[in-house]
Amino acid sequence: MKKTFYITTPIYYPSGKFHIGTAYTTILVDSLKRYKTLRGYDAYMLTGTDEHGQKIENVAKENNESPKQYVDKIAKQAKELWKKLEIEYDDYIQTTEERHEKVVQKIFEKFLKQGDIYKGEYEGWYCEPCESYFTETQLIDNKCPDCGREVKKMKEESYFFNMNKYIDRLLKYYDEHPNFIKPDYRKEEMINNFIKPGLEDLCVTRTSFDWGIKVLSDPKHVIYVWLDALANYITALGYMSEDDSLFKKYWPANVHVVAKDIARFHLIYWPIFLMALDLPLPETIYVHNFIMMKDGKMSKSKGNVIYPEILVDRYGLDAIKYALLREMPYSQDGVFSPESFIERYNFDLCNDLSNLLNRTISMVNKYLNGNIEKYTGFVNNYDEEVEKFCLEQINLFEKKIDNFEIANALKEIWSIVSRTNKYIDETSPWVLSKNGQEDELKSVMYHLVENLRKIAILIYPFMKDTSINIMNQIGITDEKLKSWDSLYKYDLLNNIKVIEKGEPIFMRLDYDKEVEYIKNAMKNN
Ligand code: MSP
Repeated sequence: MKKTFYITTPIYYPSGKFHIGTAYTTILVDSLKRYKTLRGYDAYMLTGTDEHGQKIENVAKENNESPKQYVDKIAKQAKELWKKLEIEYDDYIQTTEERHEKVVQKIFEKFLKQGDIYKGEYEGWYCEPCESYFTETQLIDNKCPDCGREVKKMKEESYFFNMNKYIDRLLKYYDEHPNFIKPDYRKEEMINNFIKPGLEDLCVTRTSFDWGIKVLSDPKHVIYVWLDALANYITALGYMSEDDSLFKKYWPANVHVVAKDIARFHLIYWPIFLMALDLPLPETIYVHNFIMMKDGKMSKSKGNVIYPEILVDRYGLDAIKYALLREMPYSQDGVFSPESFIERYNFDLCNDLSNLLNRTISMVNKYLNGNIEKYTGFVNNYDEEVEKFCLEQINLFEKKIDNFEIANALKEIWSIVSRTNKYIDETSPWVLSKNGQEDELKSVMYHLVENLRKIAILIYPFMKDTSINIMNQIGITDEKLKSWDSLYKYDLLNNIKVIEKGEPIFMRLDYDKEVEYIKNAMKNN
């Protein structure tokens, strides 16, 4: 039986169009799922929308729609975007679906019965026009951070989850499971910023609005959005339902991928809820940073928002996925700018990768009539070095990706691309041809095609079409030669015929013109 791999994105708030920052998580999760599938896992990806709460109720009202009409419309738009980005999710959960709501109600009752949830009073700063509570620190100049109007201190009857009951267990768990939180420094951040100063019990219900899941035993309360939202990772698998076969198969999750702004909910509250349910915890919660613009966060008012559709239509999906994944460092925010995007396109994709393929195809045709016969061992001075380097990079790639260092993993692939380009210069096939050094020439051509085959396998999870295109151009049809296991060997090619005339996979872009194009698109959003 195949090993399973369950991976999730956060479920998105239906607050309008998704920009490249929100799309980043989903692209990343989809790539990791594809990678695991390629490595032989039975991988399962979940995404969806987080559809309850006061804000959604308000926006729907502004749009003259019922909240359900509004969230369904946004979920449909989200699915269209994921289709365009070729996201291969296995399930899409909307928290307004019955399969989710019913189970959240059961979970709530269980917590109540166990004494983990108790009734108390919630006190906060209330903005009447927005019908929203804020904490002292959220206020701006003591006024509502959303509309700028006066706020009042108010109290309402609420249920609370007793977090402190589980804190020691959580800290012990952090200690005993070094892979639970990635990157490591997020753990210290949780302990120092939230746990040590004293964790307040979490308010898990509201009576001030209606758009939420009702508490079964006390229906004037609706369940507050985080308890509702986090549970999606298990309700989607059928936990506590009649058919819980997916839950039995895939839980515990291998990884929840989230961005830093929601780290606290996933690293503290979610494990505690799972402990209270007596369920095993996910293996890893990977917290990535933000995609920023040169002038800071993306925001409509700054006119610096980029939507993925515009980029995909003009530059193709693979280029966008490559740039986004490559731009985000492991431990810092990534900066996306029109300039850096066009540079990456021209350098990494066009100069490095596309040219390597073109040069190889034209030389194999020119010198060997397009034929690669068989492996000939180390013939040139550089053959051994190139092979060793490439195999080491594959090893490093695997380590980096298993540690969620995606940009670094891509860098390892591109170092194979650069090393292979350098190998052409070192061995100068045109000289070998002029001197009639046939064995040397055959060995160089073999190594070039073989490295391109390896590159095509490595990029498959991130850039599927480009990978397929490379395989087609170098004449690889045998599925075995596209498998991950075949990466570790150098001697597998046998009677390969490359395409007679290949098309460039990436064409050089006019830098000024394209930077201008993207900037205009940002302004006109
Ligand atoms: N609904 C909650 C998640 C609940 S999960 C049980 C939520 N939704 S969100 O739509 O606001 O955000 C979805 C994800 O996109 C979050 O991980 C958020 O941090 C992420 N991002 C939003 N802007 C981003 C960038 N600029 N860069 C990277 N990720 C970004 O939070």
